[in-house]
Formats: sequence, C-alpha cells, structure tokens
Amino acid sequence: MRAFTVCFISTVAAVASAFSYDDLLQAPRRSSALPNKDGTSAAFTESTYSFDSHSWNGKLRIVSLETGNTKDILTDATDVSDIAWAGIDTHTLLYLNQSSAYTELWSLDINTGKTNGLYSFPGSVSLLKARSTPSGVRVAVSGWATPDGSLLSPDAPAKPDSGLLYDTIFVRHWDYWLTDNRKSVFGLLLSEKDLAITREPFTNYAKGLGIESPIMPFPSASDFDLHDDVLVVNAKAPELNPANNTATYFYVLNYTSSNTPNLQLNKAGYGACSSPVFSPDGKKIAGLVQLENGYESDQNIVFVYELAADGTATSSTNVTYGKNFDRSPSSVSWSPDESNILYLTGEDTGREVLWRLDLSKPSGIPVLLNTTHSVESVEFIGGSSSKLLLTNSAIAKSAYFEIFDMKSNTTTLLLHASASVSESQVGEFWFKGSRDVQVHGFIVYPTNFDPSKKYPLAFLIHGGPQSAWTDGWSTRWSPIVWADNGDDGYIVVTINPTGSTSYGKDFTDKIQNNWGSYPYFDLVLGLEYVTKKYTFIDTERMIAAGASYGGYMVNWIQGSALGRVFKALVTHDGVFSTLNQYASEELYFPTHDFGGSFLRNTRGYYKFNPMNRIHRWATPHFIVHNAKDYRLPESEGLLAFNVLQERGVPSKLLHFPDENHWVLKPENSRRWHKEIFEFINHWSGPAQKMSPGMGETVLGKTSAAALLAKVAEGVDEDDLVM
Ligand SMILES: *[C@@H]1O[C@H](CO)[C@@H](O)[C@H](O)[C@H]1NC(C)=O
Ligand SMILES: *[C@@H]1O[C@H](CO)[C@@H](O)[C@H](O)[C@H]1NC(C)=O
Ligand SMILES: *[C@@H]1O[C@H](CO)[C@@H](O)[C@H](O)[C@H]1NC(C)=O
Ligand SMILES: *[C@@H]1O[C@H](CO)[C@@H](O)[C@H](O)[C@H]1NC(C)=O
Ligand SMILES: *[C@@H]1O[C@H](CO)[C@@H](O)[C@H](O)[C@H]1NC(C)=O
Ligand SMILES: *[C@@H]1O[C@H](CO)[C@@H](O)[C@H](O)[C@H]1NC(C)=O
Repeated sequence: MRAFTVCFISTVAAVASAFSYDDLLQAPRRSSALPNKDGTSAAFTESTYSFDSHSWNGKLRIVSLETGNTKDILTDATDVSDIAWAGIDTHTLLYLNQSSAYTELWSLDINTGKTNGLYSFPGSVSLLKARSTPSGVRVAVSGWATPDGSLLSPDAPAKPDSGLLYDTIFVRHWDYWLTDNRKSVFGLLLSEKDLAITREPFTNYAKGLGIESPIMPFPSASDFDLHDDVLVVNAKAPELNPANNTATYFYVLNYTSSNTPNLQLNKAGYGACSSPVFSPDGKKIAGLVQLENGYESDQNIVFVYELAADGTATSSTNVTYGKNFDRSPSSVSWSPDESNILYLTGEDTGREVLWRLDLSKPSGIPVLLNTTHSVESVEFIGGSSSKLLLTNSAIAKSAYFEIFDMKSNTTTLLLHASASVSESQVGEFWFKGSRDVQVHGFIVYPTNFDPSKKYPLAFLIHGGPQSAWTDGWSTRWSPIVWADNGDDGYIVVTINPTGSTSYGKDFTDKIQNNWGSYPYFDLVLGLEYVTKKYTFIDTERMIAAGASYGGYMVNWIQGSALGRVFKALVTHDGVFSTLNQYASEELYFPTHDFGGSFLRNTRGYYKFNPMNRIHRWATPHFIVHNAKDYRLPESEGLLAFNVLQERGVPSKLLHFPDENHWVLKPENSRRWHKEIFEFINHWSGPAQKMSPGMGETVLGKTSAAALLAKVAEGVDEDDLVM
C-alpha cells in the first residue's frame, strides 16, 4: 500500500502574483467527494488541463476523512468519467472508463490499487449510480436509446443522406438536433460476491414507456435514484410538447419485469419536478416540484410521496408549500438515520446553502445550517447524519472539502482548494434598488489591491435572467481573472438585479414582462452606488460585459444613455432582438417571460427590444457568438456585429464553430479571455484617456456622473414600443 502523501497548498505569500486565466483554466478540477461505507475515506476525481501538452490528465484520489491526507490511487485516469462505491465493503469503487466508444465498467480496490474490467457496455453511457441490494449490486447508467429501446450502437450504419424532417415543434435542443433516439436509464446486476455480471441482462428500465430520462439538455444523475427492488426516474411529461412545457413526472420502475405505463407517481398539472430520492427504507420518495408548468424558474416545493407496495403513491404532502419559506431548493437528501429529516441544498442570498428540514414539525420551514461559502454537494459520513461531507467552493476558491458537525454546528476544513486567491479580494454590498427593495452585489479586488490608486471597473451582468452571481467558483465567468486582468487590474462588480435567484420567489418573478426595466434600473442604481462608495473606481475607465441575458442587457445598455458611460462593451451569445426569441428551442421560456406566445402577445416581444435602439449604438463593442448555440442562434451575434460595423463603431466578432451557448474547451476559453481582455484593456486603457479615440468623442464633455444621473431617471417612452 502506497503511503498517504500530504497535499501542500501555499495559501499565504508576501507579494501575491496575479491569478491569470491560464491559472484558472489549468487549475485541477475536482468532482465532489464520495465517502465510503464506514466513513474512513472519500474518493474523488481531479482533471487538469495543460497548455504545454494541450491535453487533459485525470487522477483518481482518496482523502482520509480522519486526517485529511490524500493519496493518488490512479494517476492515469483521464478516461474515468464517473465513480460510485459498490457499497459491499469499505474499499471497492466502481468507475466508468471512456477510453473507447464502448464505455466500460471497471472496479478498483482502493487498498491495493488493483483495477478490474467488469463489463463493456454496448455503446456510450455516463452518470453511474450503484446500490448494494439483497439481490446484488445494482448499477445504473444513462445513454441514448433507439426507438426499439436498445442502447445506441456506435457501429449503427450511417444513413445515406443527412436530411432531418420534422412535423412538430422542438426540432433541436441546446446544441443537438432531435433524432428518434431518446435518453434512458439502463442498468445491470452484479453479484455481490465477486462483482461478476449476473444472468440478468443489461436492461433499459424505461423501455416501451415512451418517456425520456434523464432530462435534457443537462442530464443529471439526480434525475434517477435506486432502491432495492425499484428505481425512480424523472422524465418530461410524454403527452406534452417539450418545447412548450416544462412539466415532468416521477416514474417508479421495476428492474426486472416489463413495466406498465401506470407507474407515474405524481399527478399531472404541475411544472418541472426534480431530485426524486427514496427514503432509506424505500417507503417514501421526496422530490422537488414547481407548481407552474412553463416557468423554468418557478420556486421548487418539497413534496413527499408515500409508496404502496406496487410503487404507486398512496399520498403526497407538499411540505414547504405556503410556508414562510420563499427559497427554491435544488437538491434533496434523506437523512440516513433519522426517518423524518431531509437535507436540502439551494441558493440563498448569493450563496449555495444547506438546510435541514424536520418533516415531523408542522412549520415545514427548513433551518439554515452554518456552512461556508457555497455548498455544491452533501454526503453523509459513515451512514449517519451526525457528520456531513460537503464539497464547497467560493469566488476565491475552487472546490474544497469540509466536514459539517451536526452537533456543534461547525465546519472543519478537510481538503484545501486546488486553486485559490486571498478571501480578502472578495467583498459584498447592498443598495436600495428600483422597487424599493435591497439589491445585493459582490465586489472583487485585484491581487495586491491598493485603495490609494484608481482602477478601471469591469461591470459584469449575469445571464438567466433567473440566475445569480453566487459566491462560487466558475471556469467560464471568474470575477477573479477579470480583476487580475490588465496592468494593475480591475475592480469587478457583479450585481444581482431584479429577476435574480436566491433572494426569494417574488424577487425572481418580478422580471416577467420587465426585461429592460427593473433589472436595468437596479443596475444603474448599483453602478451609481459603487462609483460613489468606492472612490478607487475610475469612472472614466469602465467596461460592461455579459452573456446570454447578460448580453441582452449589454445590448440594451448600448442603446441607452448608460452605454455612453462605458468605454467598451462585451456581449457573449446575447439577445440582439427579442423577436428572435421565437427561433429558440425552449419556447416556454419567451412565452413565460414575455407574457404569451409570439402570436398571442406580440407586443410583449417588441417591448424592451435592444434592436429598437440601434440608432444610438456608439460604444466600442466586442461580440462573441458560437455556431452550436441553439438557445440563442448565431444570427443574434451577426446582427449586432453588422450594425456596429455599419455605424463605424470599433467592434470585433469572435466565433467558435465547435462551442454552444458556453465556451467549454480550455484552448477556446483561453482564446476567449485573450481577445476580450485585449479589447477591453485597449478601450479602457490610460492611452485612450490621453489621446481621445472613439470613446472620448462619444463621451464628449459630459461627465460619467451626469450621464448616470440622467439615465437613473428612467427609460424613454420611445424605448418601450417600436
Ligand atoms: C480503460 O480501458 C482500456 C481499454 O480496456 C484499458 O486499456 C485502460 O487501462 C483502462 N483504464 C482504466 C483507468 O481503467
Ligand atoms: C405551444 O403553446 C402555445 C401556448 O400554450 C400554443 O398556443 C401553441 O399551439 C403550442 N404549439 C404547439 C405546436 O404545440
Ligand atoms: C415489479 O415486478 C414484480 C413481479 O412482476 C411485481 O410483483 C411488482 O409489483 C412490480 N413492481 C412495480 C413497481 O412495478
Ligand atoms: C398542499 O397541501 C394542502 C394540504 O393537503 C392542500 O390543501 C393544497 O391544495 C396543496 N397545494 C398544492 C399546490 O399542492
Ligand atoms: C445548531 O443549529 C440548530 C439550527 O440553527 C439549532 O437548533 C441548535 O440548537 C444548534 N446547536 C448548537 C449546539 O449550537
Ligand atoms: C459557524 O461555524 C463557525 C466555523 O465552524 C463557528 O466558528 C461559529 O461559531 C459557527 N456559528 C454558529 C452560530 O454556530
């Protein structure tokens, strides 16, 4: 057995060096930590990209839950995509090996380091789950099922032509065009003794039911859960068009017998459901339910279903409905040893938090637990809820592990983040927003910040719009690398205006039919607030950037007086025309946010349309738009760029043919950062101040403060309707 090696991370340095986008993109990326049966160690994967070798390296690591010491079990685990404990002992781990188009199931003994190939799936699968049951070890995975229910074979012959013909809406989704294949949950049974494949064949558990699970386009292992004799899967309502509806149902399915379609657990009429989980005894299922169909950001309500022996629900309880709790949890876990306790994670006030919900108390109000920064996942140590293993992150720290002690309400750090900056670089503030409610934001300082100096401002606007800047790590939009960009760095401000999640249902819901009003006013008031309060912000050197709805807002700002306050703007895969939202795939989204379908409420699409105001576009503007973005088709970016060029506004278009709504490949992300940072550094740079360029001409003699005061008064009437 190899010795445990301590993982050294230097946390304090006299003169810290700036945190670059190369540092961000090359930092090891961890999975969440999964504790073994007796709670002595936890397993996780760590993938690191190198710009020297232009390749990924993956490791499979173990952390001792007693000492925090780590051990690398597999150092050549680049093909390992998913891990799960077999549950039969304290040392047998299962993993998926993606070295070929036929995914393989392997086992690993963490004591000896010995690996063993168990099974080659008949195609590509992911999202591994395992459960030790009286019949053996149940293994479930997800993959594409063909119309006959079998796993899509990589060797399936290609059709002679590439035409795709449709006769109903929902022809493409996120970054793929719909075919006859649908995702499904498949599985097999291993013998408990030697993990040999039993005679029970590799099975599609939802075969013939006409349902798709997990839910696309972000299939998640939280869409299914295993128990001894049955499993539960979450699937879009099969009788409703997925483009028009968010509704999903939970189905309790049998592993062995062919299933009949009457196994739907929850009743129809609600919206999206998520996170179905069996109670430890298998007699109940808890899950999250949105009451409104068609509204993807509706509040999640905790429901608990009692199961009859045949898997049908005998009763359901809407535990948190109508209670004094307006947050929207995103995951549910049953306590392993207390029958009436659920643990919930979800957003609260710019953070991911952990709540404990006692079902035996009539109040139905989850109690907030005292964890640090943002909780990404929660696991129970040693089959008890007295100690919880949390995978957390922060704006200033990539994933780190901590142990929450239920008895003392305190956390202990188990394993440091693989990348971090000083926590003092992140601050937060509140100000009075446009609807007389308090609005929250984060401020991020560059490394070696000196308050006696003046810094340019990077004003970042989040997408969604029902989403939030949270105190968590991101490799796509990291305020830290924006703060450390340029000669002396930037002050980065991220505000969560009306429509943002984590501040309660009302705050989120209020953006409906108001894309360009309340959130815009909140951002203006927030910008006013920070430029007054933080005197080290150079108001002559401010830039704004945003993606998706954040790109919509940047385009909206470009057409308003506020646009003249910024020296440069950046729109990543943003909305140019709200009318074009009807070329999107999830049509329920504009239908909800703009108050009806395009035909039924056309006016809702003309209101707050950035395209209405292109006659004012004048500030240097960087546009990014990717080919595989089917949420906001690339014509949005092309329209914006063509308008900027015709108006003679300094502008650039960056395009990735192989990326979707997000830029995910490290080499592409590096290019993305490089080009955007060069552009904003040029236009916000001291050189622009000394020798008036386009930005100076536009600003003229008007001070930024005077313009801010003007735009705070409101939107012109002619901006509202074309
Ligand atoms: C993955 O599978 C390939 C092919 O069977 C094998 O050569 C390789 O060693 C496996 N890697 C791991 C980490 O199991
Ligand atoms: C989509 O939903 C809208 C609004 O509910 C409805 O008017 C329209 O007919 C639906 N379209 C299709 C193709 O189902
Ligand atoms: C599973 O199949 C068994 C055997 O046919 C049957 O007794 C049981 O009711 C089924 N359960 C469900 C949930 O369909
Ligand atoms: C919630 O449960 C209560 C009590 O059973 C019931 O009266 C109410 O209709 C339920 N509401 C929803 C939205 O499920
Ligand atoms: C821990 O926190 C819970 C919930 O806030 C509280 O009920 C309990 O008294 C606390 N226990 C201790 C030891 O502080
Ligand atoms: C919260 O946790 C911290 C660190 O574990 C501890 O110092 C503090 O006392 C805890 N607060 C409460 C209210 O339990």
